[in-house]
Amino acid sequence: MKIVKLHIQIEEYDHISDLNAEDRLLLEKAWEACDSAYAPYSKFNVGAAVSLANGEIISGNNQENAAYPSGLCAERVAMYYASAKYPGVAMKAIAVAVKSETVKLDDPASPCGSCRQVMAEYEHLYNSKMRVILGSPHTKIQILNGIDNLLPLSFYAEGLKK
Ligand code: THU
Repeated sequence: MKIVKLHIQIEEYDHISDLNAEDRLLLEKAWEACDSAYAPYSKFNVGAAVSLANGEIISGNNQENAAYPSGLCAERVAMYYASAKYPGVAMKAIAVAVKSETVKLDDPASPCGSCRQVMAEYEHLYNSKMRVILGSPHTKIQILNGIDNLLPLSFYAEGLKK
């Protein structure tokens, strides 16, 4: 038996004003996208913005449904729309922000496991590290350079090969 230790790295910034212009713009787009979320059940409005290798920025937000599991997270709405509109174009970064009347948000919200899995697949597909920017203008900011820092030991299509 041996113990394998993995190393993950998170950059932390005290405020959105400490970010470089590109990261700040993406996080502002995610923050704006919270306003048009459809989240009547959770009242937890999540916004996501994806920046693409062709210079486009695609925003999305969580879409809920009375049949709860039918809803979808902001990150996947944004990534799937980006992939639908610009297939074959790498996703360079994704920013995620939350606005909620009911939940006090002192720390950045972290993407759910399913969204991490989808990030991992697009990162792997385009062989291009995806930067993940988490937070809001009212929280500290966390940045991860690559999905390995969010989802070590990811499952990829190679796992399906016979
Ligand atoms: N949600 C997201 O949009 N992204 C996440 O990574 C976590 C959760 C949404 C799903 C649901 O609409 C609401 O937040 C509460 O879970």
